[in-house]
Amino acid sequence: MELTYKKQSCTELSEQNIGNTAVLAGWASTIRDLGGIIFVELRDKTGLFQLVADPQINPDVHKVLSKIKPEYVIQVEGEISKRPDDTINDKLKTGTIEMYPKKVNILSSAQTLPFVLDDDNVSEDVRLKYRYLDLRREKMVNNFKLRHKIVTAIRNYLNSLDFMEVETPILIKATPEGARDYLVPSRIHDGKFYALPQSPQIFKQLLMVAGFEKYYQIAKCFRDEDLRADRQPEFTQVDMEMSFVSQDDVIKMTEGLIENAFKAAGVEVKAPFRRITYKEAMDRFGSDKPDTRFGLELFNVTDIMEQSTFEAFKSVIKQGGTVRAIKIPGIAGYSRKEMDDVRNLAISFGAKGLAWITYMEDGSVKSPVLKFLNEDQIKEIQTRAQAQNGDIVFFVADYPQIVFDVLGRFRLYFGKKLNMIDESKHDLLWVVDFPLFEYSFEDNTYKSMHHPFTMPAMEDIDKLETDKGNVKSIAYDIIYNGNELGGGSIRIHDAEIQKKVFHALGLTQEDIHEKFEFMIDAFKYGTPPHGGLAIGLDRLVALLLRANSIREVIAFPKNSQAKDLMTNAPSLASEEQLRELHLKLRNPMKVQ
Ligand code: AMO
Ligand code: AMP
Repeated sequence: MELTYKKQSCTELSEQNIGNTAVLAGWASTIRDLGGIIFVELRDKTGLFQLVADPQINPDVHKVLSKIKPEYVIQVEGEISKRPDDTINDKLKTGTIEMYPKKVNILSSAQTLPFVLDDDNVSEDVRLKYRYLDLRREKMVNNFKLRHKIVTAIRNYLNSLDFMEVETPILIKATPEGARDYLVPSRIHDGKFYALPQSPQIFKQLLMVAGFEKYYQIAKCFRDEDLRADRQPEFTQVDMEMSFVSQDDVIKMTEGLIENAFKAAGVEVKAPFRRITYKEAMDRFGSDKPDTRFGLELFNVTDIMEQSTFEAFKSVIKQGGTVRAIKIPGIAGYSRKEMDDVRNLAISFGAKGLAWITYMEDGSVKSPVLKFLNEDQIKEIQTRAQAQNGDIVFFVADYPQIVFDVLGRFRLYFGKKLNMIDESKHDLLWVVDFPLFEYSFEDNTYKSMHHPFTMPAMEDIDKLETDKGNVKSIAYDIIYNGNELGGGSIRIHDAEIQKKVFHALGLTQEDIHEKFEFMIDAFKYGTPPHGGLAIGLDRLVALLLRANSIREVIAFPKNSQAKDLMTNAPSLASEEQLRELHLKLRNPMKVQ
């Protein structure tokens, strides 16, 4: 056979090619021997094509094909013919044609696979260990085709707006995005370390100082954080930055990107998307990434509880806490055990307790806290809840962060449990007006809600020293069906304001000098106002595919323990490597 391995792909052939000669190469996907006649489904990147070998017609080809096993790699040459009517396969793109090869060549043999490719119940650990086989499955191929299509659409869109793609370094000084850094020891500089970027944030801002005006990058980011279905230690952002822009400009540009990316996945969405403030998102949905495909909104009862005789709630309110409630319809019939489960759920979410009022079907009202409330208060709660017979209203009292977190998760739990979420919806919205800082009860300090380069709202600059909790920022997140797709902000481009924010975050003069002096310096040489945003590409693709986890759209992901099961990374280092890197382990047993 000629040296050209293949001249056509499996699925570019159609009835129009009947009578033509084709040269195909790929994997023997399925092999069936029906009464001496062998049927092979040949698979390549594009799909399947049926080969037939009849010993009466071509004994040599039949002999070779009778030896092959699933996943052998073969090359065939022959004429395309029409299938007899009774073997037509409507499900296949090439289901009306086939080939009786004149020549066949085995290019590579294959051992029995550790799992059957079309079995959907293989454990994820096995799939990850043999990822190169897992990626042969049609479902996975389709995931990556879609990912590629989405990335292409995004690149085309940004290129059409005159954005320039620039690569930023991977071995850098730490970028503060709130997660832990991956550190890389330096061989040449004893005792020193590079960090892997949590994002290209600092560099993209410096590209604006340089005058690039419109930058983007399909950028790898690294964050050492606790993993979840929508988080990986290494993931990809569509990272963007623009000069001379306002929040509205960045939002508008991003909306066009989202429209194009969704379109590539066959989903029509229409900008502009709704905008709600952070405060409204928390008050109504208990979350800064609200799923607004269903109701179950929270409501405030702090004022009522403050006047009650319930000491547990009153003391929480006195200490700056809040009391919020949520009405869950139609569950008044819950058994004692079911109510215990609900209470335990709230406690597992971080609540100190869970109070409730049950509006029984017979019109009576039951509640452990009724005795602390007068008639007007009881009535007012029912009015605010719009509670009817059969409903239960739950209350949580605590610091606002905890109350919102618990009730927000509660809301999602019941939304799913009671089938209230319309899965066919594509709910896109912006959350805007984030606070600049968030209070950390763990270490009693204020931390950046996004990152320290976020511009405070101009009218709040005076509060940077006196009232940190109430400084708003020009930051925005784009939310899709209750997931944070991306986020960004207008940045500080003034060295003085940047210093003030660093101070507000508790950084000392030395910290600022050591960590960010280059940035403050850069701002002194003519810095345009600028802003941008980054979209989590893996999340975007996974959500559009309705995949359970972003691992389904990452070719070689880590498992939930941040391990690569295929290569066994991370792995031990040898004494020699450690010596070269000037490292000594605290646990010497851990040396290879
Ligand atoms: P942020 O930290 O919000 O912003 O990240 C932007 C988006 O990246 C995605 N993302 C992740 N995806 C998978 N695994 C992770 N561990 C992970 N962490 C984040 C999310 C998120 O919305 N530099 C800023 C952007 C800017 O201000 O321009 C940044 O990194 O979808
Ligand atoms: P107690 O009088 O402490 O037994 O509490 C009465 C009810 O209020 C119980 O159902 C508790 O679970 C609930 N409760 C106590 N503290 C809180 C809180 N911080 N938030 C919500 N419910 C609470």
